[in-house]
Amino acid sequence: MGLKKGMYRKVIVVLLALAVVGYTVAFYVKKAKEGVVDEVKMKQAEKIKIGLLLETYDVQRWARDEAYFREKAEVLGAEVIRAVANGDQDKQNQQADTFLTMGVNVLVVVPKELKTAARIIKSAHEKNVPVLAYDRLIRNCDLDMYITFDNEKVGYLQAKGILKSVPEGNFILLGGASSDNNSRLVRNGQLKAIAEHEKNTGKKITILDDSFLNNWDKEEARQKISNMLTKFKAENKEVHAILAPNDSTAGGAIAALKAERLDGKVAVSGQDAELGACQRIVEGTQTVTVYKPVRDLASTAAQIAIKLAKGEKPEEIAASLGYKSNMLNNGTKDVPSIYLEPIFVTKENMRQTVIKDGWHSEEKVYAHVKEINE
Ligand code: GAL
Repeated sequence: MGLKKGMYRKVIVVLLALAVVGYTVAFYVKKAKEGVVDEVKMKQAEKIKIGLLLETYDVQRWARDEAYFREKAEVLGAEVIRAVANGDQDKQNQQADTFLTMGVNVLVVVPKELKTAARIIKSAHEKNVPVLAYDRLIRNCDLDMYITFDNEKVGYLQAKGILKSVPEGNFILLGGASSDNNSRLVRNGQLKAIAEHEKNTGKKITILDDSFLNNWDKEEARQKISNMLTKFKAENKEVHAILAPNDSTAGGAIAALKAERLDGKVAVSGQDAELGACQRIVEGTQTVTVYKPVRDLASTAAQIAIKLAKGEKPEEIAASLGYKSNMLNNGTKDVPSIYLEPIFVTKENMRQTVIKDGWHSEEKVYAHVKEINE
């Protein structure tokens, strides 16, 4: 009996020991598995997904904005998905919803309509997703951040360039897309330069027309300027300068001038340093463009987007990237905004700006000039 009892005890002890060992092993196996899963989960979570919403590809610059943005974001380990709204704000709002359903961590938006794009911010914030407005402001919403070139400065430089070659006379001020906040800012800058010029020189600028376009559209600009030229001719008013808001619309204005054999005789401004515009400048049919180093804008925006997605505070982001944060009121709040410097380009400094920066090659910019000289 005594022996039996002892054996039972031993068996129980061994069984208990086995159970403890088994439990411990199972515990660590489980932990190890969880650890692997956690790591995978963490890796997935670390890969920030950025939704980039573009308004259009119609104006040349936007494809380059996208390429530079993607390049920087991917180097920083983020994934970029993008959609182009083809000038339709409702479509862009839907694209934003799709991206939010796909689980993007941040949205970067070039809006079409400065007001109705506000819906994007509302939907994004419902999912705790921050929004960065890229190049164009979105009004009347709780926008997180805004990055752009100084648009008033763009208009100021355009007017300065024109006033240098036409210090007095009759000007057409052609406004950009009325749906774009930048159009108003560019105009403010132009008017500021004109007022300063009149004050400093005592010379007078007569504004023949100052209406805005519906879209940043070359053909709309051509048609509009063509109608104006006919009208002013009938009224015996000579046109001396056209402040066109960007290069594509400058192209339209110059086509209208050409039809009247006035190309090269009327000063024309632009913006964006498109290849066609740079060629027209060195050939003499366009007076000035404003070059915006889009690589800086896009790569800074990519860094901001990642920081916003990580929950960093907008006010601190600007400083951490070495920029001054401007507080710009959008009708609802003061939006922390970063302004980059636009660059004035004429025939004189084409080589030191656009070409030196690798935006366009010398060969391409001077292609026709060489043909003419040959
Ligand atoms: C503006 C932008 C310009 C120009 C235009 C046409 O908002 O500031 O650089 O490209 O859009 O898309």
